[in-house]
Amino acid sequence: MILEKIDQLLNEVNNLKANNAEEIEQLRLKYLSKKGEITALMADFRNVAADQKKAVGMKINELKQLALQKINELKEQNEVAEESADDFDLTRSAYPIQLGTRHPLNIVKNQIIDIFQRMGFTLAEGPEIDDDLHVFTKLNFAADHPARDMQDTFFISQHPNDVTKNILLRSHTSNDQSRIMEHQKPPIRVICPGRVFRNEAISARAHCFFHQLEGLYVDKNVSFTDLKQVLLTFARELFGPDTKIRLRPSYFPFTEPSAEMDISCHICGGKGCGFCKHTGWVEILGCGMVDPNVLEACGINSKVYTGYAFGLGIERITNLKYRVADLRMFSENDTRFLDEFVAAE
Ligand code: DAH
Repeated sequence: MILEKIDQLLNEVNNLKANNAEEIEQLRLKYLSKKGEITALMADFRNVAADQKKAVGMKINELKQLALQKINELKEQNEVAEESADDFDLTRSAYPIQLGTRHPLNIVKNQIIDIFQRMGFTLAEGPEIDDDLHVFTKLNFAADHPARDMQDTFFISQHPNDVTKNILLRSHTSNDQSRIMEHQKPPIRVICPGRVFRNEAISARAHCFFHQLEGLYVDKNVSFTDLKQVLLTFARELFGPDTKIRLRPSYFPFTEPSAEMDISCHICGGKGCGFCKHTGWVEILGCGMVDPNVLEACGINSKVYTGYAFGLGIERITNLKYRVADLRMFSENDTRFLDEFVAAE
């Protein structure tokens, strides 16, 4: 009697079917729970004649193992079915997904940051949308300076009498200088990379946005000699130990004295080539001693503190390192161009 029951259950269990997790749970309850069929068999087992106990016991065990195995199999099949139902994406490419590459401007920016951080500079970033006060006025730009012209700078809103209401896209990262000096007390030693905007017609050599990195050091007894040494170290770290620098007198409203720095042409080694227009030198940055007017405008006592600042163009330096013929390539995101920099890091 009990053997027939076991055979019937074995047959049932062998053919178990379920469409979802709920149905599987029902089957588990039916056969394996405390009130299930197999547990009930155990109760009947007590009445089995002693000489048959061994054979029946083995059969019940076989049934229990089969039920466990079948229910686990159903669970696994169900999980696979549920997963593939969710993840089935007909639009997905059959080819393996390619990893991206770092953008050449970011590669060079990170190299520059690394060099200055090793010299003790901290990193900060300022706003791309700022007011006239921080982009021009505090930096000692005269009221009629041409940079304020609509032809040069993108204005978002203009107000004739209030420089804090003239909102614009910053035309240089030097606004970070006024923002930092306003809030921080010297010693300040900081670099600020960022994007800048100018109202230029887009061509191979000019773009309406590009990237700069601003440097600022304000403390007691900061001198032009300090500036020169930091820039020399920077140039040699970035372009190699044989690199020479030269500083030419220049003018910026926010520095006095001001200079532009050239490095010996990285491409021809200073002998003269098309890139350096046969001079052997290429300009890479503007710099100078922070004008006392700027320190005072930002709340720093110019009798106690002095400082230097510099600003460099990241596209320009990237060009020097990798000779990118057309500035527009930096913003077109053509993966054939970007792929060339896979090994550059
Ligand atoms: N802001 C200048 C520009 O956009 C670059 C520059 C020159 C920044 C001299 C400086 C500096 O901090 O000292 O052309």
